[in-house]
Amino acid sequence: NDDSLPKDKGFDRSLQMLKEGYTFIRNRENKYHSPVFETKLLGEKTYCMVGEEAAKVFYDNGKFRRQDAAPKAVEKTLFGEGGVQGLDGEDHRQRKEMFMSLMTKDSLDDIQSITTGVWKKYVNRWKDREKVTLYDESKKMMAETALTWAGIPFEEKDVDEWAKELSDLFEKAADVSISHFLSRRSRSKAEAWIEELVDEIRKGERKVRETTPLFKVSFHKDKNGELLELHTAAVEILNLIRPITAVSVYITFLGLALHDFPVAAEEVKEGGEEERKRFIQEVRRYYPFFPFVIARVDKDFTYHGASFEEGTLTLLDLYGTNHHPDSWSKPDSFQPDRFHNWFGSPFDFIPQGGGDHEKGHRCAGEWITLRILNESLRVLTDSITYHLPEQNLKYELNDIPSLPKSGIELEYVKKKG
Ligand code: HEM
Repeated sequence: NDDSLPKDKGFDRSLQMLKEGYTFIRNRENKYHSPVFETKLLGEKTYCMVGEEAAKVFYDNGKFRRQDAAPKAVEKTLFGEGGVQGLDGEDHRQRKEMFMSLMTKDSLDDIQSITTGVWKKYVNRWKDREKVTLYDESKKMMAETALTWAGIPFEEKDVDEWAKELSDLFEKAADVSISHFLSRRSRSKAEAWIEELVDEIRKGERKVRETTPLFKVSFHKDKNGELLELHTAAVEILNLIRPITAVSVYITFLGLALHDFPVAAEEVKEGGEEERKRFIQEVRRYYPFFPFVIARVDKDFTYHGASFEEGTLTLLDLYGTNHHPDSWSKPDSFQPDRFHNWFGSPFDFIPQGGGDHEKGHRCAGEWITLRILNESLRVLTDSITYHLPEQNLKYELNDIPSLPKSGIELEYVKKKG
């Protein structure tokens, strides 16, 4: 019965969650000695879960649903209404297939070479500047990479504005999801503009290559054989270009890790593809980004001797699972070598969600993320030299999303050789 689930007694914990940030769920797991407990968030009874076993339950198709899981304001702002994140069952499977069909080897090679080109262009630009901020530059580089890959026409002079528009939401994620969940941001400019674009493409007024994600989403048919609503098509295109822009957060953490962990950095510099892979995996495991995923119990079930009630909001802690001592030795130390001969579980290493890409909600962009990071790490360690001046590199576990305060200032960036 329900009594066996520890309860975080008292008032709504939303503010507490903001204060504790990424450690909110683990703090309570430790206090209650239970990887599952009940609390109250955003005025609702909420279950919180952490760790590999909990992740298996969370991603067990059929136990949870995504429809109406995210608070409306989050859906409106962070995801966009009608997007793949909020779909279940057959609707989800079909829509997800559209996303996964964009992740072919050709398409991944394509984004990798776009990334290479964009890095080259920016490094060239930096040679006349004494100092650049890695995070700010990465946002622009990633916005440009995203637009180019997706096939969205843009002018060079508009990249700054795109970067701003596309990063606005993940930068304000905590505001949107926790403190400001009642305020509604008006529909983004990007959404309106992409709707227009899709409309023109469908009417044949604008030509884009048929291999581009923009074209493919514009003409994707849902299970009833109809094109997506204009608005939904725009939402899904933003579901591609917005998170690509968010890879800038990980690029910034690559820069931080290279500075903070000189031994591991040396190994990457001396090594090749394999060493880069391990370093990137450890960056995704070690640093905080997406704090948790949200669902609702779809049907009553029992777990850990406690009954989970239909309709109840449930959070799975991603950061906490990536740092869980049951799965990771010395979880709070940075050790890329732990990924040497790592066989992987879809449930203990879940920076971009867990489970299965096709059948579940696991991030559609995981391979894109890895390609971009591989290329970026290669540039940072192989192609350029730079110097880090005195600055505040601290990041806080109670900022969501968390970033080094300075954004990582680089001085005297030069091409090697
Ligand atoms: C879903 C993280 C990059 C597209 C997700 C989820 C997380 C996540 C935590 C939710 C998983 C769940 O609900 O169970 C990240 C992180 C990224 C990243 C940390 C690194 C910057 C990308 C990229 C793309 C992308 C580059 C697209 C090119 C998506 C889509 C979904 C998703 C479409 C929804 C999948 C679904 O609901 O079935 N991502 N992501 N993401 N991500 Fe990513």
